[in-house]
Amino acid sequence: MSVRDPLTIADPEQLTADLVHLSTIVDSTVPGWTRQALTEADVVGRHWVRARMAEAGLDAHIDGAGNVIGVLHGTAPGNSAIMTGSHTDTVEGGGRYDGNVGVAAALEVVRTLHTNNVRLRHDLIVVDFFSEEPNRFGISCIGSRALTGFITPEDLDRVDSDGVRFADELTRIDIDPSALLSSRMDSSRIKAFVELHIEQGPYLEEQGSDIGLVTSITGIKRFRVAFRGRPDHAGTTPMNRRHDAGCAAAGSVLAIEQIASANVDGRGTTGLVTFTPDAVNIVTESAELWGEFRSPDLRWLDDAGTEFHSAVQREGASRSVEAQLDWLPSEQPAGMDDRFIEVTAREADRLGLKQSRLYSGAEHDAAIIAKKIPTAMIFVPSKDGRSHCPDEFTADKDIHSGANVLLNTIITLDRELDFD
Ligand code: GLV
Ligand code: MN
Ligand code: MN
Repeated sequence: MSVRDPLTIADPEQLTADLVHLSTIVDSTVPGWTRQALTEADVVGRHWVRARMAEAGLDAHIDGAGNVIGVLHGTAPGNSAIMTGSHTDTVEGGGRYDGNVGVAAALEVVRTLHTNNVRLRHDLIVVDFFSEEPNRFGISCIGSRALTGFITPEDLDRVDSDGVRFADELTRIDIDPSALLSSRMDSSRIKAFVELHIEQGPYLEEQGSDIGLVTSITGIKRFRVAFRGRPDHAGTTPMNRRHDAGCAAAGSVLAIEQIASANVDGRGTTGLVTFTPDAVNIVTESAELWGEFRSPDLRWLDDAGTEFHSAVQREGASRSVEAQLDWLPSEQPAGMDDRFIEVTAREADRLGLKQSRLYSGAEHDAAIIAKKIPTAMIFVPSKDGRSHCPDEFTADKDIHSGANVLLNTIITLDRELDFD
């Protein structure tokens, strides 16, 4: 039997059904579809993915860093591999597609290869990366950082706002912190990483495109600022005698917006602000603010960081409030592999899909993996550009198109890439 070329996924309904099933493994006490890393729902979800990988014929396990890894062994002697996958953890109150699409599509790619008796020369490694979304310790992409050696003992010593250590939280869900630190993979054997993901922005829909070819992934600078002022009576303390930590935080929130708004590709977001004490009749003694800047331009990111540092000092000093700015693990912009972009473009063309090139404003495991392994990302459209919210939606036909591009990209890379 000759294999169709380009091949299409064998069972699109099964891919959709896997996504629907994942959307049932959620924390039902929180609105939207919530499966945050370090929670029970995420543990259950990753075990379900492992079982699904095994059913699809992969040699599957959960590694020391919590990554679910399945291997389809290649035919050629040697060790070379191609890797694909994404993540199944979500933000709080998130959607059903962010990350999940890349994992469910990778499973369907494997099933399609089996159904059509296509044997790859390379091993195909499918990964559901642990904890891609930023957690309350201020670190994202834990699994991909561990696999590439970009996580440190200091990262595991970070504490959340309640003083809980990240390492202790990992232990609570049976991830041994020292095993996580030693879960590094041999990246020299992996010749390519390809991640399928929803766009999470409006560009593809605006362009009327079926597929996005990602040229680079945004850089990110995350931070936490602690302000310490003085608690005083809200009625009797004149405005010019206050050391109001809340006002210093509020001024810094506006500075984030102003700095980012001054550049077309700049993004600046405050994710969390807390005031202590939280009472209407006490001047705020201390405040904590978590936020981030993003841009594909490293120089702008660095300048934004410098400008924000000055703004925080100014907002604190003008109120005699101490301000401590702490930079969290950050990411430089990551370029995708030019050769692989051309391969994905060619495969999208052969499938008759309209395509656009764009940079990703969202963070991805691909940005971490790209530091060690040539990487490509394929995007599919997001309705109204909405994501990280319950309204996140990508049509089945677009997901199936993305899976078809992923499938044929993997088959072509398997044929064209060097082997050793
Ligand atoms: C992940 O989705 C991010 O962009 O923060
Ligand atoms: Mn996300
Ligand atoms: Mn994602």
